[in-house]
Amino acid sequence: MWCNDFKKAFIGSELTCINAEGKTLSRIYLDSAASTLAFAPAQQATQAFLKYYANTHSSVHLSAKISSEAVAWAHQRVLSFFGATQGYSAVFQGNGATSPLNRLARGLSELRADKSTVLVSLMEHHSNDLPHRAHAKKVIHINIQDATGEFQGVDLIELEALCKAHQQQLNYIAVTAASNVSGHITPIYDIAEIAHKYGAYIVVDGAQIAAHAPIQLAQDNPQRSIDFFVFSGHKTYAPGSPGVLIGKTQLLDQLKPEFYGGGMVSEVSKFDYSVSGLLFDKEHAGTLNIPGIFMLATTLDFLDRVGMYSIYEKECMLTQYLIEMLQTIEGVKVYANTSNTQRIGAVSFNIQGLPHELLALILNDYFAIAVRNDCFCAHPFVRECLVDELWEIEDETQLPLYQGMVRASIGLYTNKADLQALEHALTCIVNNKAYYVSQYKLTDELHFVHKTFKLETQQYFNIEDTLTNCFSDYLSKEKISMYEQREEMA
Ligand code: ALA
Repeated sequence: MWCNDFKKAFIGSELTCINAEGKTLSRIYLDSAASTLAFAPAQQATQAFLKYYANTHSSVHLSAKISSEAVAWAHQRVLSFFGATQGYSAVFQGNGATSPLNRLARGLSELRADKSTVLVSLMEHHSNDLPHRAHAKKVIHINIQDATGEFQGVDLIELEALCKAHQQQLNYIAVTAASNVSGHITPIYDIAEIAHKYGAYIVVDGAQIAAHAPIQLAQDNPQRSIDFFVFSGHKTYAPGSPGVLIGKTQLLDQLKPEFYGGGMVSEVSKFDYSVSGLLFDKEHAGTLNIPGIFMLATTLDFLDRVGMYSIYEKECMLTQYLIEMLQTIEGVKVYANTSNTQRIGAVSFNIQGLPHELLALILNDYFAIAVRNDCFCAHPFVRECLVDELWEIEDETQLPLYQGMVRASIGLYTNKADLQALEHALTCIVNNKAYYVSQYKLTDELHFVHKTFKLETQQYFNIEDTLTNCFSDYLSKEKISMYEQREEMA
C-alpha cells in the first residue's frame, strides 16, 4: 500500500514494453543498486527553482541570491540527513562516489605522507579500492570470509589485529557501508572505533546505503563517529546530481584543494594567488552543479519525511522475501551467507548451468525484468563467491560465461508483486531452460544475442523525434528539418 502510493512518484516505474513474444508487459525495475529511478517531485521542485537559476559566483541580483540560498539550504539539508550538522561539511563532486573517493585517496595520502598503509575490505566496489591502490603506498585487503570460506564480512577481531600490526603506518580504513554485490551491511561505527583507537581515519563508501538505511555520522561517543562518508546522487533517486563527500570539517580543512580555478581563491595577482579560507569555496573550483545539488537535497528531504527507519524496515522485509523466494527455486544459487539478515536490498544469484548474461537477457526479453549481471565493478568479491563453482567447470572455453552473477536490487518503488514476477520468471526459465537457451546464440566467446528478437530502442525513445517535439514551438519546420537533412547527407 505504502509502496504502491510511492510507485508513481518515480519516473519510469510505469513503463511498458514489448517482449520477444510480442506481448506488452509492465517493465519491472530491479536494478536500483546500479542507479535508482528518478523521483519526479524533486525534478518538479528543481524545475520551479530553475526559473530563478543563476550562477552562485554572481552575488548581487535576485537569481544569484536565490541560487546561493538554494545551495546553502541543500548543503545543510544533506548534512542533517546524515546526522552531520555539527563539525561536518559536504563537498559536491563528479557524478557518483568515484570522484569523491579519488579526491580522498589522493588528499589523505598527501596529508599523511608518513602513513603509507591503507586497509581496504575485499567486498569493495572498485571505486573504494582502486583509488587507494593508486595513491597509497601500500593497500592491505581485509579478509571477508571465515575459516570455512563462508562470507562473514569484516571480522572486527581480525581487523583490530591488522590495525595493531600496522599501527605506525596506518593512514585509514576504507569500507563500504553496504555491499553492492550482496547487500550486507558493515558495522561502520564499530570499525570507526577500532580505526580511531589506532590513530587511523575511517572512509565509508555509502553509495549503496544512503537511500536505504539511516546513517548518523556524528555519534555521542566521538570515537565511533565517521570521519568521511561518500555517496552518489544517482543511487539516491536523483540522476543528474553530483557525488558527495561528507567529512569532518577540521580534516577536510587540512586537505590541499583538488581543483584550481574560479571561486576557490580569495586573491589572485599576476604573481601569486591565495586559496580561500572558506572550506566550501576551497573545495568547489568552478561552477557548481546547482540544480543537481538542489534536486539531491530535495530528494533526501522527502526520504527523511517518509522516515529512513521505516524505509529500512520495509526494504528489509522485501529483501528477506526475495532471498527466501530465490532459495525455493530449484537450481538457483544465492551468494554470500544468506543467514545474515543485516542487509539492504541487493541480492546476487545464478541459475545453475546458465550463463549470467543469458539469464539477464531472458529476464529482459521475455519478462521485461531489468536486472544487472556480471561482476558489478566488484571483481574480487564476486570471484571469491564464485571460485568453487568455477573450479568445477571442465570445459575451459565455458569459463568466461560463468564469471559473473545476476543481481536483483530494490528501491522505494519495489513491491512484493515485482518480486513475485521475478519468481514467476525464474520458475519458467528453470522449467524451460532448453527452450530459452535455444533462442540465443553467442556473438563471441562472451556475449549472447537473441536469434530473432531485437530490442527496438528507437520505438521507445527516439532522440530526433523528441527534439523535434520539444523544439517545435520555437523553430520553424524548415529549421527543424535542416538537421534531418544534414543527417541524411552525412
Ligand atoms: N557499480 C554500480 C553497481 O553496483 C553501477 O551496479
